[in-house]
Amino acid sequence: MIPTRAFVAPARQCLRKAYQQPRWAPATLQLRLRGYATTAEKDKVAKFKGTKGPDGNYTVTLIEGDGIGPEIATSVKDIYAAAKVPIKWESVDVTPTLKDGRTVIPDKAIDSVRKNYVALKGPLATPIGKGHVSLNLTLRRTFNLFANVRPCRSIAGYKTAYDNVDTVLIRENTEGEYSGIEHVVVDGVVQSIKLITRAASERVLRYAFQYARDVNKKKVRVVHKATIMKMSDGLFLSTARDVAKDFPDIEFDAELLDNACLKITTDPGPYSDKVLVMPNLYGDILSDMCAGLIGGLGLTPSGNIGDECSIFEAVHGSAPDIEGKALANPTALLLSSIMMLRHMSLNTEADRIEKAIFATLAEGKALTGDLGGKAKTHEYAQAIIDHL
Ligand SMILES: NC(=O)c1ccc[n+]([C@@H]2O[C@H](COP(=O)([O-])OP(=O)(O)OC[C@H]3O[C@@H](n4cnc5c(N)ncnc54)[C@H](O)[C@@H]3O)[C@@H](O)[C@H]2O)c1
Repeated sequence: MIPTRAFVAPARQCLRKAYQQPRWAPATLQLRLRGYATTAEKDKVAKFKGTKGPDGNYTVTLIEGDGIGPEIATSVKDIYAAAKVPIKWESVDVTPTLKDGRTVIPDKAIDSVRKNYVALKGPLATPIGKGHVSLNLTLRRTFNLFANVRPCRSIAGYKTAYDNVDTVLIRENTEGEYSGIEHVVVDGVVQSIKLITRAASERVLRYAFQYARDVNKKKVRVVHKATIMKMSDGLFLSTARDVAKDFPDIEFDAELLDNACLKITTDPGPYSDKVLVMPNLYGDILSDMCAGLIGGLGLTPSGNIGDECSIFEAVHGSAPDIEGKALANPTALLLSSIMMLRHMSLNTEADRIEKAIFATLAEGKALTGDLGGKAKTHEYAQAIIDHL
């Protein structure tokens, strides 16, 4: 039998070594780890680095994805063409290959995202029992997408329990409970390590404050459980307090996870002026809970933000049951693309298309089947174009 302590001590030393000097941290962030500086525009975390080509367009990588992916991607392309958005799409195939027993994405796709700094992604099916891990996870790891941003806003025309939901949740995406460090200590005893580092916490927290400013939210709230996980969540919380000093225009506070769940589901109204930011597992669960308040995952957009590149995607899957039938609702991918436009500072185009989407939904004449209508995917897209 291996004594627990004998295992834990070397593991701790090994972790300490690995996390002393985070290799991913850009120079500006490494500086701030020693002393917090004010955030100049040029120092923004995850700032979009793309530039327009000679034709006046940005190039954006498009991963159409599986199942309904190509159908909903076509709607986005049609609407963008009609709105004359200065974007040129570069479609890539991310069908995975196994290299030395590891799932890898084709180099061409990786190079495209690296070159363009931004991608829009349709759903990817995860083949069961084919020997490779989720492509979504592979993408997240390949591009070190450290923050998952999930806004949820009530949609006029789609009745749910509340019509005043307007939450934004930012989830730390690289560590915490999902660090993947698990061991059998002895038969019948397992240990799972929740890893929290100041560096990764600071990066996502700083992004949350920036995001609050960008979308005109007045407050940032950390959701945590530091009463129980005093060291790990405690570090996340104390880092948040330090980062908050750099954003005096944004109010900062904190709330316990269980309390937040109870309050949001009882009355989401008071959460509409806040950006909620939290460690990995809490964000995974709470983001789906908020999506439930606006009618489920089918209408929910998301952004996966990285230091270099960011990938925007609908939260729903590839919906193989309706593939090729023109029944798919492209709203979630469209709203994800709106987040992408704002990330690229194409705010005028974002506002215009978003208004047309919400007007089409509120009018209710050309809704897809999942929202109780009879319109085909392309008919719904055409109605949005008519509202531009
Ligand atoms: N981000 C991603 O790429 C992602 C997310 C979730 C699931 N998946 C993958 O997708 C595949 C299918 O997963 P699933 O069936 O569990 O979930 P799903 O989201 O694909 O489908 C669940 C239900 O919602 C419906 N639906 C989903 N999106 C819709 C849309 N845009 N318009 C109309 N109806 C829609 C489907 O028809 C289905 O009835 C799996 O391989 C799964 O691994 C991928």
